[in-house]
Amino acid sequence: MNSSRLRVLFVTSEAYPLVKTGGLGDVCYALPNALRQLDVDVRLLLPGYSEVLERLSLVEVHDSINVYPLLEPIRLLVGIMPGEITPVYVIDCPSLYQRDGGPYQDITGKDWDDNAVRFGVLSKIAALFGEHRFLFKPQIIHCNDWQTAITPAWLAFSDQAHAKTIMSVHNMAYQGIFEAETVGRIGLPPESFNMFGLEFYGKLSFLKAGIYYANQITTVSPNYAKDIQTPNYGCGLNTLLTERQYKLTGILNGIDSKVWNPETDIYLNRNYSVRNISAKVRNTQALRNKLNLANSKQVPLIGMITRLTEQKGIDLVIPIIPMLIKTGVQIAILGSGDKTLEMHLQRLEARYPKQVSVTIGYDEQLSHKIEAGANMFLMPSKFEPCGLNQMYSMSYGTIPIVRRTGGLADTVTDATPENIQNKIATGFIFERSNANELLHCIERAVKIFHNKEIWKQLQITGMTRDFSWQKSAKQYISLYHHSINTI
Ligand code: ADP
Ligand code: GLC
Repeated sequence: MNSSRLRVLFVTSEAYPLVKTGGLGDVCYALPNALRQLDVDVRLLLPGYSEVLERLSLVEVHDSINVYPLLEPIRLLVGIMPGEITPVYVIDCPSLYQRDGGPYQDITGKDWDDNAVRFGVLSKIAALFGEHRFLFKPQIIHCNDWQTAITPAWLAFSDQAHAKTIMSVHNMAYQGIFEAETVGRIGLPPESFNMFGLEFYGKLSFLKAGIYYANQITTVSPNYAKDIQTPNYGCGLNTLLTERQYKLTGILNGIDSKVWNPETDIYLNRNYSVRNISAKVRNTQALRNKLNLANSKQVPLIGMITRLTEQKGIDLVIPIIPMLIKTGVQIAILGSGDKTLEMHLQRLEARYPKQVSVTIGYDEQLSHKIEAGANMFLMPSKFEPCGLNQMYSMSYGTIPIVRRTGGLADTVTDATPENIQNKIATGFIFERSNANELLHCIERAVKIFHNKEIWKQLQITGMTRDFSWQKSAKQYISLYHHSINTI
């Protein structure tokens, strides 16, 4: 092991292409890759879900550990990320992770009853790495979201802690809150359970533990770092975050140009770039055919790819669809989640089969086809820590329509007359979470869509913006060094 290289264990409950439910999976693939390119020895730690074990390359047994007396001994496996060189440690414990369903929920969409133990074990093993119990001895344990967030607590109470902790918050709305008795069940020190620790209104909060005990806290955009210090967005932890402001940094996510690049994207009907944007139209035609939408060239096609949750503002879209159809647009939605939202969307598709397409489910391939084929991309989020699809959209010449919140506000430049004139506009922004404002914003976009010259300029400006991970990865490295050098 070259001892001068920075050693980082990146702990996560999902990482593309092994397992992904949303942006966390994309980030936990792309950021470690960007860090490795900057010579950081970064390795991943993940739960051994069946799909992870199936997809990982070159798997070997690394160690065997007894974490809890009532749990079978756990095998720690090590493999390689497919198509990459990043080592991935996997926790092989079939009773916890090998089940039919998703990483967090069963097939009916209900959270697994034993999530506290499933992710308690993930956090515990990360803490053991931080105590240098294994061959790989990281200087930093980089935790991502609540599923990994009690690692900093364990290390704060350990007299063997040899690593510093970074807690990255990708979404404040998911905190991992469990009954108080969970503290004993997963073996946390009882003295940690008070308001100056893990306790959150009488319950155990994984995310609060991370924020409370980590050496550094990050979130995924500068604007969201400000948002979460306010009662509206802080989900009950805003006061703690304000107290921790001195160690809270907002670092903007990037996009992985190997996976999301219209010039090389393997899922497209026709590759294109800023030098031949006109070829994009082939993808629009193919998408219309695939989704059985009317072949109306003059009508803009709006795409949306999303988890169907309250966060994403789909409840603003549903009531205005009839008006939008009259305005002259088509909509292609891909998503899954809330069953009531799914049903409302399917009804709209049945009502307007040639203008509205709704695909319920998770489909990586279709998501790329929508990014390339759509003319506009809708993200009317109530809150958005960063958001990746608006950046994918801009780099695909697909103009985003977003609400001014979190990372959407940090990444999209509104097409005001002044910004258009200065050639810095990349999308359309509305302010308040309100269906009327959204409707007016879409109408504004449709109007400009018919002005070919301005539209092309918006596409060029978005497609030539730098959304790469380089700059952000360097910010993480500075933070790692800062943590290592601070007591
Ligand atoms: P979030 O993480 O809150 O869901 P992001 O914009 O950060 O939002 O990232 C969402 C990621 O998940 C993107 O890569 C998007 O394409 C993908 N995604 C979301 N829903 C689906 C779906 N139903 N099928 C395929 N990909 C999806
Ligand atoms: C979360 C957020 C999203 C962010 C993603 C990756 O799921 O909702 O805004 O882009 O994490 O950081």
